[in-house]
Amino acid sequence: MNLLSKLIEKSAKILSNPEQDFEKRLVNLCNLFHKKISYYDWVGFYFSNFENKTLELNAFAGSPTDHKVIPFGKGVCGEVAVKNKSSIIPDVSIHENYISCNINVKSEIVVPIFYNKLNIGQIDVDSFTFNAFTEEDMLFLEEISKMVSKELNKVKK
Ligand code: SME
Repeated sequence: MNLLSKLIEKSAKILSNPEQDFEKRLVNLCNLFHKKISYYDWVGFYFSNFENKTLELNAFAGSPTDHKVIPFGKGVCGEVAVKNKSSIIPDVSIHENYISCNINVKSEIVVPIFYNKLNIGQIDVDSFTFNAFTEEDMLFLEEISKMVSKELNKVKK
């Protein structure tokens, strides 16, 4: 079993842990990916505030960022909030609408989280390596996104 498949299994356990509140479970997921995947140098979950049309940082692992609130449409994250599609940025230095959180970041992947077909947030991963993310990372994070959404469904009931 490869690393990402193992991490899917571990994530399922973390996400369904009834002893921790949901935010803590997300922090644990961020820490797991940050620790186990060498090129995941920052991992965070943003959730949409539809009233303010912003994304708000909810859980993360890696260096603290000043960008805890991002308007819809701004940066890679804000674009994904509007486009409803995963985005891989191989070289952030040539992406016009990019918000830099850390000068060491070279590439980024952002995957939306859908709840009842609504784009309610996203998983954002930064890497200090150029062109770090592949289709495999996208499929992995999309699977995690579905798992988070399923668990959210249980928490909200
Ligand atoms: N780079 C992101 C901002 C969030 S930080 O990576 C933590 C963007 O362009 O939306």
